[in-house]
Amino acid sequence: MRPFESIVILTGAGLSAESGVSTFRDPEGIWSKYDWREVATPEGFDSNPAYVHEFYNMRRRIHRDIKPNAAHFALARLENEHRGVTVITQNVDALHEAAGSKSLIHMHGEAMRALCAACGTSVPWTDDLSVATPCPSCGSVGRMRPDVVWFGEMPYHMERISELLSECDLFISIGTSGHVYPAASFVAEARAAGAHTVELNLEPSQGARLFAEGIYGPATEVVPEYVHKLLSVRTFE
Ligand code: OAD
Ligand code: ZN
Repeated sequence: MRPFESIVILTGAGLSAESGVSTFRDPEGIWSKYDWREVATPEGFDSNPAYVHEFYNMRRRIHRDIKPNAAHFALARLENEHRGVTVITQNVDALHEAAGSKSLIHMHGEAMRALCAACGTSVPWTDDLSVATPCPSCGSVGRMRPDVVWFGEMPYHMERISELLSECDLFISIGTSGHVYPAASFVAEARAAGAHTVELNLEPSQGARLFAEGIYGPATEVVPEYVHKLLSVRTFE
């Protein structure tokens, strides 16, 4: 393995699975129990906001109680010991920051924040939300929603992400099935920029062939091992 300078890491639900957060598309995943059209689209929210609030209240309660796992800690350690590491996460939990990651982009938003559709204010939020919750900034009632990106909405920070991908020399994708765009196309962007590309996942994802390298197993095993390898190479530079 050669030393790398600029490292971009894309994470998905598989990274948090061993912390007790369900993934989406595995057999027992969230989309086997809920219809994403009902709980994760602007149209679903418009037609039944109380149901969507109930879904995210449930998820927020889970997120409040969970702890980062060895994979989150390994990525925070990598950032601490190597300049030029950015984590882009599709996860709406707060486990990367709990583990100590600082250079972090929440491209699909954060379940622990609420957004007012009337004035655009986003605020930290740990309690339940309802159709009766007033906006703490403008006072509008019935306009608060979880600050997460739904299908059909533009993910956050896309310009910054494109810039990072065009400059990286190592792109690592961890615990994501590669079903959801634009995240699923980041590997192609990184390749076009000349980066080495690696997938760490429980099993080959649907985009596995797009990666130069694949390492398969539970995130709490493969991620710390891979980070250890990256940091040892750097030591002998
Ligand atoms: P998925 O549920 O689609 O994929 C999770 C991936 O993690 C699968 O490829 C699993 O094989 C893998 N996996 C499961 N357990 C693992 C473990 N212990 N260690 C390593 N890998 C493991 O989740 P995402 O790809 O993150 O968006 O889904 C992307 C987006 O689709 C989400 O952000 C969400 C969802 O719909 C929205 O809600 C807008
Ligand atoms: Zn407001």
